[in-house]
Amino acid sequence: MPKHSLIKQIDTYIESTFIPHDPDLAFALNNSKKHNLPPIHITPVMGKLLSSLAKQNHAKRILEIGTLGGYSTLWLAKALQKKGTIVTIEHNDEYAIIAQENFEYSQHAPQIDLRIGEAFVLLPKLKTEAPFDFFFIDANKEEYIEYVEWAIKLAHPGSIIVCDNVLRNGGVLQNPPEKEYYAKLQKFNVWLAKNDQLESTILPITLPLTGRDYVDGMSMSIVK
Ligand code: DHB
Ligand code: MG
Repeated sequence: MPKHSLIKQIDTYIESTFIPHDPDLAFALNNSKKHNLPPIHITPVMGKLLSSLAKQNHAKRILEIGTLGGYSTLWLAKALQKKGTIVTIEHNDEYAIIAQENFEYSQHAPQIDLRIGEAFVLLPKLKTEAPFDFFFIDANKEEYIEYVEWAIKLAHPGSIIVCDNVLRNGGVLQNPPEKEYYAKLQKFNVWLAKNDQLESTILPITLPLTGRDYVDGMSMSIVK
């Protein structure tokens, strides 16, 4: 019996083969842990994927909803073109303080614009700063339709919108769903699939957690 599940071994294999140590990212993870932020950040493998997608889209302007400790923000900042910027929205003041520390430790602080407050208050103010080339949504799972509606308003044809946690270990397959927010995500996925302004799909991903493996997914949409 291997010590770890196959998916954990594969995740470690990809990470050790393709993802070299990065002091900015390591500091962000350690500092977030030190300050007891919930350990619900994306994995290194997901970070590299997000960063690659943003690079392939030559992103100069990125918008993230849900900063937490800024780990995903730093991955995305690494994808930016010279003079590119990322705006990241966080409603929790305590998370935002740690995220800002993590940005300032890194070489990317000048390119990261952290806005603290409720997304639906801050998003309308971004109209004058649009369009954005790439969006990463990783916030309140009950409000994904509304976030993506905003992303479409702030996008241009060819912009990419990625949403984290749209499968929830198969929670979206349950009928009836055990949790209220699974039902919201079910509605979101169907809405996304049918949205004729977007071309979308879901990439299944695994979160190799300490005690168990967890299947989740990221939706990916291209704005038509
Ligand atoms: C939770 C939130 C996330 O964005 C995530 O990636 C994993 C878990 C949560 O709220 O439990
Ligand atoms: Mg998430």
